[in-house]
Amino acid sequence: MDKNSVPVIAIDGPSASGKGTVAKQVSEKLGFHYLDSGSLYRLVALVATHTGVHLSDEKGLSNIAQNLNVTFKGKEIWLGGEDVADIIRTEKCGNRASKVATYLQVRKALLDRQRAFRQSPGLVAEGRDMCSVVFPDAALKIFLFASVETRTERRYKQLMEKGVDVNIESILQDIRERDARDSSRSVAPLKQGIDSSFIDTTLLSISESVSEILRRYTEICAKNI
Ligand code: C5P
Repeated sequence: MDKNSVPVIAIDGPSASGKGTVAKQVSEKLGFHYLDSGSLYRLVALVATHTGVHLSDEKGLSNIAQNLNVTFKGKEIWLGGEDVADIIRTEKCGNRASKVATYLQVRKALLDRQRAFRQSPGLVAEGRDMCSVVFPDAALKIFLFASVETRTERRYKQLMEKGVDVNIESILQDIRERDARDSSRSVAPLKQGIDSSFIDTTLLSISESVSEILRRYTEICAKNI
């Protein structure tokens, strides 16, 4: 099968909209591969911290992006000899990733790596610019939205379940700051593309969001027969 004819479902949306969980479940239901593109930016931020590369050093950061020695194995993310899946999920690493992601050279360095995930029988790719830059020919493009209050509650519950002691006010502030930074940046800002399909998950459960995406995808497949 020609790589470009492998179907892609691209999912974007604001931080903590649940797009990671939803995208993963959609990929499992369809038996598709899964790309969590945010993890790549998080990995660059982590390596920068470990190697003392400053978050203002675009060249140093793009070098890291180019040479990331990473292997994805199910839930594990191996960076060299260490599984860093949990370390990169911290709020601190997410914040650093959102700074790293503002550099065009870093984004360019990660482009081929992301496109390599497009493998038969299909791919669900989640994150900023999946719909516009990385997979502009995706079969289905989704913008997954939820109100800032709902996203704060979801993130709070998620962290509490993990046993992380957190303050809900600081999560709200963090999400607001990340939204502002992600929406106002000049490179790949957070916004819904004109060809993306909007889903408001504020009042939807995860499984309802997953079903809605599967319904829209089935509709598209039926039209293309
Ligand atoms: O989705 P996640 O929270 O893991 O992403 C971390 C940060 O990386 C986001 O705040 C966003 O700024 C950035 N990002 C990006 N492009 C992507 C995925 C993530 O700019 N494709």
